[in-house]
Formats: sequence, C-alpha cells, structure tokens
Amino acid sequence: MDRIAIFASGTGTNARKIIEYFEEHEDVEVALVVSNKVSAPVLSMAKEFGIECLVISRMQFYETKEVLHVLSEQEITFIVLAGFLWLIPPYLIANFPNRIVNIHPALLPAFGGRGMYGMNVHRAVKTAGVNKTGITIHYVNERYDEGAVVFQASCPVQASDSPESIAKRVQKLEHEYFPSVIENLLLGNERK
Ligand code: GRF
Repeated sequence: MDRIAIFASGTGTNARKIIEYFEEHEDVEVALVVSNKVSAPVLSMAKEFGIECLVISRMQFYETKEVLHVLSEQEITFIVLAGFLWLIPPYLIANFPNRIVNIHPALLPAFGGRGMYGMNVHRAVKTAGVNKTGITIHYVNERYDEGAVVFQASCPVQASDSPESIAKRVQKLEHEYFPSVIENLLLGNERK
C-alpha cells in the first residue's frame, strides 16, 4: 500500500482530483495534506474527505524535522507537490529519494525557476509569443523546477489567447493527467 502526502497551499483543485482518483483505490491512498497556509481552501476540502491535515510554519519546515516525524508516523511513502511554493529542504529529499513529484504549469525547462508560478507563468508564455505550452510532472530536487522530467503534455497557444485562457487550458491538462501519472509511477515502483 502506498500512502501519499499532498503538499499544497492554494485552492487545491489538483489535490481534489488526486484525492478523488484514489478514493476507492486498492493500492494507493491519500493519507495526509500538508500546507503552509492555515486559510488555504485545500485544507477544508481535504477535511471534507476525512483526510488528516498538517499546517507548517517556515521555522518548523526548515529548522526542525517535525514534518519528517509526522510523515513517518503516517507511514507516508510518496509526496506530491500540487501548488506548494516552498523549496523542499535537503532532509526531506534525502528521506524520499525519487519519491517526491511536482507539477509545473509549463513545458520545463521553459518558464520555470524561482518566481515562475501561477499566473506569472502564463503571462510569461503570452509575452514570449510561443505557440504551445503545457504541463510538466517532474521529480523534486533542491532547486526549483530542475528535477528529472517524468511526464509532459502540451496544448496550443493562439494569438488570441489571454494569460487566463492559457491557464484554463493548462489546468485541464493537469486535472486530466496528474492522478494517473502518479498511479503509474507508484505501480511501476512497486514492481521493481
Ligand atoms: C497548479 O497550476 C500547479 O501546476 C502549480 O500550482 C497550481 C496549483 O493549483 N504547481 P491548484 O491549487 O491545484 O488549483
């Protein structure tokens, strides 16, 4: 049995899709949601599903290993970042080697790195005038958006698109692919 912790600090639409996808799953369970924002809508959503939640402060995250203790108490085997903006500290990466993935709303390495999140990404895509964008699911290392790519899917960008319409198209891809890519990673890993 794999037990997933989702780290999220925003609305949590991806978190919801992942939770719903694994609700009746035999081998995978979403067991914990971790957030750095006590008011994040993702927390109330997770609670509706009866999922354990943990709110962390910057100090706790970077200067203690409390999160690690909770993860091990909860027997978490895999971490999914879905709208979590803090850099993951080395102690967490070391304890979850190739067991942390993130989703980025563009085709990395383009439009990645510090400050490239949310609408900033889609505005940059629009300004650059590229004709396609998409999603990247990648392993997480100590640097923003630089871990090995696991999966990408793309969609067109038209001249008439606004950053908002690009965001909508990209979000559709996220919701469509993220849960099943996680499932494939987990089931593939189990077979090793
Ligand atoms: C998504 O766009 C994801 O790519 C990014 O953060 C956003 C989270 O959105 N890393 P939501 O909270 O899941 O709606």
